[in-house]
Amino acid sequence: MPTLAELADEASTCTRCPLAAGRTHVVWGEGDPGARLMVVGEGPGRDEDLQGRPFVGRSGQLLDRLLVEEAGLRREQVYIANVVKCRPPGNRDPLPEEIAACRPYLEAQVELVRPAVVLTLGNFATRLILDTAERIGELRGRVHPWGAAGAVVVPTFHPAAALRGGGAVQAAMRADFVRAKEVLAGSATRR
Ligand code: URA
Repeated sequence: MPTLAELADEASTCTRCPLAAGRTHVVWGEGDPGARLMVVGEGPGRDEDLQGRPFVGRSGQLLDRLLVEEAGLRREQVYIANVVKCRPPGNRDPLPEEIAACRPYLEAQVELVRPAVVLTLGNFATRLILDTAERIGELRGRVHPWGAAGAVVVPTFHPAAALRGGGAVQAAMRADFVRAKEVLAGSATRR
């Protein structure tokens, strides 16, 4: 199995899907490679594409705040990645073939980081990780056992939905981040 650094290097020149043509940077992901909490978003927006880093725009600022205020974690203490590593033009939804092309990268990231909790943000991350067609509104609010290693998925809304939808969405997200923290507190440290 290649290392995270080797995979990031490989992805930096990836042409597996047409998103490669429009990107400024591949947004591989970042954070603690031994993190117990992994955050999975949808895909880079404009700010992320320009900087080559995940969640650095407005959604990222909200994510950082919720991590600190509700989960007690700074972003350097978690690992942050996306379903697709290149920006879909105009921030459109990623297409099924783009998600499929990028999927092995995310799967490798999860396998290498081996988090105890995967916090999925929004429909795309949650559906891919849980392999379901259900909507985030149905899936959030509870913990989903996941994988052979005793990990769990805590689905929540995407921060962009909270920025659009206001108080109720953000309150639900806060509850989900607390849920992630409680699971982490109750799970044995594996490292
Ligand atoms: N939205 C995402 O889903 N991911 C990012 O990295 C930024 C915004």
